[in-house]
Amino acid sequence: MRSLRTGATSAAVRIQVSRNGRPALESRVGAKALSENFALIPELPLDQVLVGDCVAAMNALPAGSVDLVFADPPYNLQLGGDLRRPDDSLVDAVDDDWDKFSSFADYDAFTRDWLSACRRVLKPDGALWVIGSYHNIFRVGAILQDLGFWMLNDIVWRKANPMPNFRGRRFTNAHETLIWAARGENSKYTFHYEALKGGNDDLQMRSDWYLPLCTGEERLRDGAGAKVHPTQKPEALLARVMLSASNPGDVILDPFFGTGTTGAVAKALGRHFIGCEREQVYADAARARIAGITPLPPEAFATAPSKRSEPRVPFLSLVEAGLVKAGETVFDAKRRHSATIRADGTLLLGPAVGSIHKIGALAQGLPACNGWTFWHVERKGELLLLDVLRTGIRAEMAAA
Ligand SMILES: C[S@@+](CC[C@H](N)C(=O)[O-])C[C@H]1O[C@@H](n2cnc3c(N)ncnc32)[C@H](O)[C@@H]1O
Repeated sequence: MRSLRTGATSAAVRIQVSRNGRPALESRVGAKALSENFALIPELPLDQVLVGDCVAAMNALPAGSVDLVFADPPYNLQLGGDLRRPDDSLVDAVDDDWDKFSSFADYDAFTRDWLSACRRVLKPDGALWVIGSYHNIFRVGAILQDLGFWMLNDIVWRKANPMPNFRGRRFTNAHETLIWAARGENSKYTFHYEALKGGNDDLQMRSDWYLPLCTGEERLRDGAGAKVHPTQKPEALLARVMLSASNPGDVILDPFFGTGTTGAVAKALGRHFIGCEREQVYADAARARIAGITPLPPEAFATAPSKRSEPRVPFLSLVEAGLVKAGETVFDAKRRHSATIRADGTLLLGPAVGSIHKIGALAQGLPACNGWTFWHVERKGELLLLDVLRTGIRAEMAAA
């Protein structure tokens, strides 16, 4: 019997895999088998690393229990022999056993197994991210769709500092692809559109992300200066994934934990993680790394409420609350356009009467306009945006 150890923290469970491949669970305290029915696991092994095969580990977890999966699976790189630089030095390429499969069919079967296990543990509104390269991502994508996941985006991670193509026989391989998929077509997945836009100079965040490889202080090295893991991912990549597609307190599962980049970023950003990793040496490195992470203060990662989730405030409410007055003039930021506020919450511009949006569009000769962010009133000689007054009303509504 091979054992999958959990970390020595809260949920005192020990998961074992029997010779017939079926997982069994026992209490570490009582060392007595509780049940082979894994729906009975009393609590999720939060913030722990499960050492062993990820499919067995995930099958031991309760169904519908995690919010997000981030998976960085073996890429099945199919390297043919040593890779050398022009100066004949050996490239530190990924040639580990965990990345070797006997055939594409073998890789597909493995992919189907772990994706099915992920789908089972995801909540109905959960989602999954998987990163890969041209070697595997198309196979993974097809299997995802076959299993019922619903594609949301493919993200291109464009590497700021890619490894050159030493043989000069192909283009430099300068990107990796991340697939973002909801558990199913009707899943109400999490996406913080406005937070991402706010951090991107108020432009919609695009699907091509330009980020450096994991280097410098972030890269884990052993005493001799060698990389602890050949494919450690940059924390900035994981941070963007988590900030866009999860909430503080969410449970994020990583079936191929490696040196625990997912866990390190989850802890920093106030999320929970569950990691699965078959190699003890990587699991140990991950635990040590995560222990050294100090979470950011909550205000540094709390998700601002999106505009869509805020209560609707009609412009008439501002008139009724006395924040603007009937007969008062509204202006655009450069005072090129103006209109008059009417007692019923509409605006008057020449002969035209309509909403703040309609009259804003009419003034500019545009098909549409957001009147809240176009019109201002004058207070103490300064222009004050209607949206600022609306924020005040919303705060009152929230307090009430
Ligand atoms: C591409 S690496 C992940 C690296 C990780 N994202 C990081 O930043 O350190 C894939 C990892 O999956 C592990 N692995 C491969 N097959 C596995 C399996 N069946 N169950 C659990 N872990 C597995 C490997 O040992 C390897 O560490």
